[in-house]
Amino acid sequence: MKVETMRWVDGRLEMVDQRILPAVFEYIAYDSAAGVAEGIRSMVVRGAPAIGVAAAYGVALEAMRLQDVSEVDFYSGISAGFTVLQQSRPTAVNLFWALRRMHAVWDGIQTKAKDQVARSLLQEAHEIFAEDIRINRAMGAFGAGLLPDGARVLTHCNAGALATAGWGTALGVFRSAIEAGKKISVIADETRPFLQGARLTAWEMVQEGIPVTLITDNMAGYMMASGEIDAVVVGTDRVAANGDVANKIGTYMVAVLAHRHNIPFYVACPLSTIDPGIADGSAIPIEERSADEVTGYRDCQWAAHGVSVRNPSFDVTPAELVTGLITEKGVIYQPDRQKIEAIFR
Ligand code: MRU
Repeated sequence: MKVETMRWVDGRLEMVDQRILPAVFEYIAYDSAAGVAEGIRSMVVRGAPAIGVAAAYGVALEAMRLQDVSEVDFYSGISAGFTVLQQSRPTAVNLFWALRRMHAVWDGIQTKAKDQVARSLLQEAHEIFAEDIRINRAMGAFGAGLLPDGARVLTHCNAGALATAGWGTALGVFRSAIEAGKKISVIADETRPFLQGARLTAWEMVQEGIPVTLITDNMAGYMMASGEIDAVVVGTDRVAANGDVANKIGTYMVAVLAHRHNIPFYVACPLSTIDPGIADGSAIPIEERSADEVTGYRDCQWAAHGVSVRNPSFDVTPAELVTGLITEKGVIYQPDRQKIEAIFR
């Protein structure tokens, strides 16, 4: 993938503005925790691993920004930075995972000089970034082995390079399969209402010449019934201890359809996306986004003015519908509590 979703340039974090892709390709530069938090909240950057990496950089940027303030203001400023980042989005657990990692570094160096604190936090953010790409490559290799040559694979939302530091989770599986010499074609659900499938997944695949066919979300059942889909691979925002999977709204519908048609349903899931503290999917916080994402786009409103709207941004697929979780340590077939515990040992 040639496109860098985020990059470190001259002491600032630059992130591709994913809200305006594919029409415009543009980076926005950030130099504070509050700025990065706003970038996450407003969907400049999105996708669970990418949100985590961005938040890690947000902490480092805050430490760099506060070099000239008093020690007291430095420490309280960094704490405030953690808080604002924690509040940016609720569902993707990678955000909290990355912030915990940054906090562990911060806990170990609080008594050091400010410039050293900033350097150590930045080093950890760079490490989280690099590690994410290594993990995606490892998942890709395991996932590639699951797809037969010639497979036509459906994906939902965007779990690609744009949703990570690079390579992608679900789209990383496709890239790895193609790199291994397999012919893979992708069917991308458009992914209402934010259109991550149409705008981002389709764009990533077209950029690289990977065969991709775009469908609207309500066509998946027809495609499966017609025998045009061999497998489903999606990403995830949080997996509960029992294997229930939260992912972009509409994923549950796809999983039910895949089950009905005996099509394997795989979830590309870095271990950082598993939340052992949540017993099952019913406790995963589901973000509710604004009504105008559903009623129209920019200046165009297509729904009746005054209509009441629901916009839950994620849903939960029960573990029983998951053929396998593709992790960087291997595939967990028919995931359950015991198998998930075992992978962490
Ligand atoms: O609301 P988004 O665009 O952040 O939702 C993204 C998804 O649901 C992805 O499928 C998930 O984060 C996995 S990304 C590797």
